[in-house]
Amino acid sequence: MRIYQSEDYQAMSRRAANIISAQVIYKPDCVLGLATGGTPVGTYKQLVEWYKKGDLSFAETRSVNLDEYLGLSPHHEQSYRYFMQDNLFDHIDIKPENTHVLNGLAKNPEAECAAYNKLIQDLGGIDLQLLGMGHNGHIAFNEPGDDFGLETHLVDLTESTIEANKRFFESRDEVPRHALSMGIKNIMNARRILIIVSGEEKAEIVKKAFTGPVTKDVPASVLQLHPDVTLVGDKAALHKLVEAGVQVCG
Ligand code: GLP
Repeated sequence: MRIYQSEDYQAMSRRAANIISAQVIYKPDCVLGLATGGTPVGTYKQLVEWYKKGDLSFAETRSVNLDEYLGLSPHHEQSYRYFMQDNLFDHIDIKPENTHVLNGLAKNPEAECAAYNKLIQDLGGIDLQLLGMGHNGHIAFNEPGDDFGLETHLVDLTESTIEANKRFFESRDEVPRHALSMGIKNIMNARRILIIVSGEEKAEIVKKAFTGPVTKDVPASVLQLHPDVTLVGDKAALHKLVEAGVQVCG
């Protein structure tokens, strides 16, 4: 695993965007696995800036998103489809038909999940998967205790995730209780993984995930078993790893 430590959120975002743009330049028709949450906002902003400058094109790129809240329409401001349009897709030249986000309004969630697994397969698998990390170590919506062998599935969100994500909704009651999410198996099948972390409140879980045992209690710990993971974080999120003696690149 390569670990890059950046000075602050902005530098972390720029480095993550550099890695994604390298992937897109190297293989223009690559499949990007994309993430939502607060952490990747700066990364997407940087990619949009480089696209607008003419340094980058997504004209051939395909994308698959990690997850979506169950029950939210694509037009709901807190849906992950809306987030992706607003933060990235509406501002770059990616073809709408090449962007894929799970349908939160699917009548048959199991069928939607099965179709998504097939879609990822038909696209030839994910070249680069971008990930954030939840406060309890979740990746996508794979919550502590979830089986590492799962593919895309219906998830009951934990209280801790509902609590963490309520900041985006008007009240806690409005946070959906269920989501559709790629499973750990889909994520581990990606050829490369880029995980980004920011802020002091992630420092403890980052240390646990990357220096502790690989355990279902900390879903992100499974990444220790992937052959090509890059962790990019700011100093605040990485300082406990560094204090534990883990080597990082500046
Ligand atoms: C959500 C998403 C995850 C994301 C996590 C962390 O729960 N499903 O994909 O990594 O939030 O979010 P943040 O980056 O805002 O801390």
